Amino acid sequence: MDAKTYKILLVEDNNVDARVITEALSKAGEGCFSVTRAERLSEALERLRAETFDLVLLDFMLPDSEGLSTFSTVRQQAASVPIVALTGMSDESIAIEAVRLGAQDFLVKGQVQPKELKRAVQYAIERHKVQSTQLKLAQGGKTGKTIGFIGARGGVGTTTAVLNIAAALAQKHKEVIAAELTPFYSAFYDHFFYKKSRTTLSSLGTLMKLNREKITQWELERCLIQLPSGLSLLLGPQRLEEFQELDPEKTDALMQALCALGRYVILDLPSQVSAANQAAVKHCDFVVLAVDRAPSCVMAGNLMVDLLVSWEVIPMRIGVMVVNRQSMPISMDIAEVLATVGCQLVGVVPSATDACSEAHRRGALMVSNDPQDPASGAFIGIADRLMTEQIVGR
Ligand SMILES: Nc1ncnc2c1ncn2[C@@H]1O[C@H](COP(=O)(O)OP(=O)(O)O)[C@@H](O)[C@H]1O
Ligand SMILES: [Mg+2]
Repeated sequence: MDAKTYKILLVEDNNVDARVITEALSKAGEGCFSVTRAERLSEALERLRAETFDLVLLDFMLPDSEGLSTFSTVRQQAASVPIVALTGMSDESIAIEAVRLGAQDFLVKGQVQPKELKRAVQYAIERHKVQSTQLKLAQGGKTGKTIGFIGARGGVGTTTAVLNIAAALAQKHKEVIAAELTPFYSAFYDHFFYKKSRTTLSSLGTLMKLNREKITQWELERCLIQLPSGLSLLLGPQRLEEFQELDPEKTDALMQALCALGRYVILDLPSQVSAANQAAVKHCDFVVLAVDRAPSCVMAGNLMVDLLVSWEVIPMRIGVMVVNRQSMPISMDIAEVLATVGCQLVGVVPSATDACSEAHRRGALMVSNDPQDPASGAFIGIADRLMTEQIVGR
């Protein structure tokens, strides 16, 4: 077990019981659990909407709800959070029924020692994680993957690739989010919306204004922009007041929320040495480095790979995408590029100046606007590869 602090929502109206449990949890280990208490069901539901918890400790007898309906209401509101029932000695049978309906466990109040409580809570959290993954796999491999794209430098074609690869995945009936983690003006907004509307849309900036603990799945979902193609976008900032360096802790919270949605997440990361990028790549199953074939860009790519490795990204989980955006006065061949950057090839994108500008002009994407273009074929091929062979789910 690592040193993570588990966030527990304790739903208990009785002050004495609440104190006993809170004390038992604090005795269980310094900094192991952070406990938030709610006294009523309505307050618990409000908390669950506003924050992400690792576990709910739930007394079924509350001033505003009793018995199994307390459990089913919480279950409905927070389907992805494990619940451990707290019971008195007399209502054990209700607790057993709740376990049958999906509660992870039950604890009889007054009978639990701190050590047992700690173990029960940690086991419930871990067991729930395993069960959720198995369930997603059983539902047709819907466990998403998180793939970060980062350019060796700006202008190589990273954003174009991110959007087209995300759209190619969405065409394969995958649930996909393309997220732009930039502190600066949104290239996604520019691509899809700028010409259509001058009003700004919810964005990363909206989320970054919140406190770290408020950056939850729920808030994130409210900021996603759904395109008709099925692709969801998290746009970068559009207003001056949102232009600011991304806070690494908030980026971490955002990544947790993104990954928890269980969809494919394709990240457009700025070519920067930033703590926010470091926080983001920690959550990636795979990182794609985008380079063109100019020797200076390939050298920058080599350094970017070293940087990623120093951020503890495993080399096997880094691949390079070569974009032939335009002809270069001096360009390396692919073998040289691979030898220099020192990682596996994910794909080569041919030059597609006209198809690119045409798609941009229409606020569309090449893979749907011009699927026959060789660059579209390359994006679809990369999407296939990322989905299948190369990426081993965690
Ligand atoms: N394969 C390509 N062929 C030709 N032009 C491209 C290609 N990919 C991207 N571009 C163009 O290059 C410019 C920069 O692309 P962009 O994706 O914004 O790069 P980055 O995100 O790396 O800064 C854009 O004008 C885009 O239309
Ligand atoms: Mg870009």
